[in-house]
Amino acid sequence: MSHIVAIASGKGGVGKTWLAISLSHALARRGRRVLLFDGDLGLANVDVQLGLGPGPDLAGALVGRGALAQAVRAVEACGFDVLPGRSGSGQLARIDGAVLDRMLAEQEAARSRDRRAMVGTGDRSAKIRTYNFPQNRVTYHRINLSLHQLDDVLEGELDPLVEALRRQSREERAGDA
Ligand SMILES: Nc1ncnc2c1ncn2[C@@H]1O[C@H](COP(=O)(O)OP(=O)(O)OP(=O)(O)O)[C@@H](O)[C@H]1O
Ligand SMILES: [Mg+2]
Repeated sequence: MSHIVAIASGKGGVGKTWLAISLSHALARRGRRVLLFDGDLGLANVDVQLGLGPGPDLAGALVGRGALAQAVRAVEACGFDVLPGRSGSGQLARIDGAVLDRMLAEQEAARSRDRRAMVGTGDRSAKIRTYNFPQNRVTYHRINLSLHQLDDVLEGELDPLVEALRRQSREERAGDA
């Protein structure tokens, strides 16, 4: 499940950017997949504080220079991704309503594409899980994992499953990179 954490304050220079970067780093170290979105419309500087060089950013995507996803950059040293704003231009604070509508429509289309891919076709032959009581085995077909502790799993001992899911997620991310 994904979560959104917003960091904001009515006062300048109190450490919002520092907290956003540190929190992203801490969550990434705990194995979470993090995208740090710099929504400081006036003076975005997450990229500057992270020492990233110039490159695609949110402002560019808003004026049609490339897709939003292409502006996402991996911060290799910290293990999370960043969608940089545009340092100091103030341009993002004056975005045209029509441009915002277009961006929202693009995001919605991408989300429903993802949802379709995740939900699958409902094919009856698509096996998800098999419980085999004589063998005390449970198999999770989507990640090709068999645990020979069905009784433990039914008691709520899900750590081996969670660990396997984490491993698969890490492998998929490595494959995407
Ligand atoms: N916990 C902290 N301890 C010491 N220095 C800090 C801490 N948090 C932030 N700073 C320093 O304070 C300054 C302002 O921090 P930061 O840029 O994160 O604030 P901000 O709220 O994002 O500012 P702005 O409103 O300009 O976006 C920076 O020089 C930063 O290094
Ligand atoms: Mg800031």
